[in-house]
Amino acid sequence: MSTLLHTLDAGVLHLTLNRADKRNAFDRGLYAALTDAIQAGDIDPEVRVIQLMAEGGCFSAGNDIADFLAEPEQGRRTDPPLKLLQAMRACRKPIVAQVHGKAVGIGATLLLHCDLVYVSEESALVFPFVALGLCPEGGSTQLIPQLAGHVKAFEWLVLGQPCSAMEAAQCGLVNAVLPVDQLSDQVDRAVTRLAALDPQAVQQSSRRLQLAAGEQLDALMQAEMDLFESLLEGEAAQRALKAFVSR
Ligand code: COA
Repeated sequence: MSTLLHTLDAGVLHLTLNRADKRNAFDRGLYAALTDAIQAGDIDPEVRVIQLMAEGGCFSAGNDIADFLAEPEQGRRTDPPLKLLQAMRACRKPIVAQVHGKAVGIGATLLLHCDLVYVSEESALVFPFVALGLCPEGGSTQLIPQLAGHVKAFEWLVLGQPCSAMEAAQCGLVNAVLPVDQLSDQVDRAVTRLAALDPQAVQQSSRRLQLAAGEQLDALMQAEMDLFESLLEGEAAQRALKAFVSR
């Protein structure tokens, strides 16, 4: 069974993370599948909206920790997450996220690059990077302070305190918090409305919003990943990551 499920229905490309036994952690295969699916959806005229969701009770546990410890077959360990985030940022089709349960690490950061985000009441965004001897990524060191202010950003990104669904909604990180039994109906209404709009108007408007975020964000995402990559080699990260896999 593939770790990413695709269906296309009435202009909506549904992409479902399907690695629930590993809490939808992103291994290299899942990164590549999601990056390719977003890039293919972006150029497919049949696709008007991309809906991202996950199987099971955890949206995503972030990067696969075993993969972080393994030697990369080629390139750097941080190439797959950076490529995914760049594909999301470049995508002109709106990306709508449906989040139930915890979104951890890149599972949380990638939500900053979606256009609409709906979460269940049980959800939380968790950025455990510093406790793992790593650093925040995906533009989060700029995007989260802009939305929530420095002290909340520091609490979530450095102290590693989970950002509850309610806090995320209060500061504009997500659109709405819903009881889990109402979540998919709310997302269906949003994607149906988007799919009914003129595609050119939607895509051009989306592009204007992306450009407004500026080249500075792309440069920051690269710089954060460079730092992340060097910290990954460090003793603190190696110790913390090995402790997780040998629990
Ligand atoms: N990478 C690889 N495997 C992971 C994983 C990750 N990031 N997160 C969870 N898993 C695996 C576990 O090893 C376990 O596998 P096993 O059944 O073969 O032993 C399985 O997923 C279930 O994990 P478990 O911790 O028992 O699930 P839980 O529901 O109690 O907790 C989380 C879910 C996400 C809170 C917890 O797994 C966690 O904190 N994971 C690490 C998240 C993290 O630090 N990510 C950032 C990486 S930069």
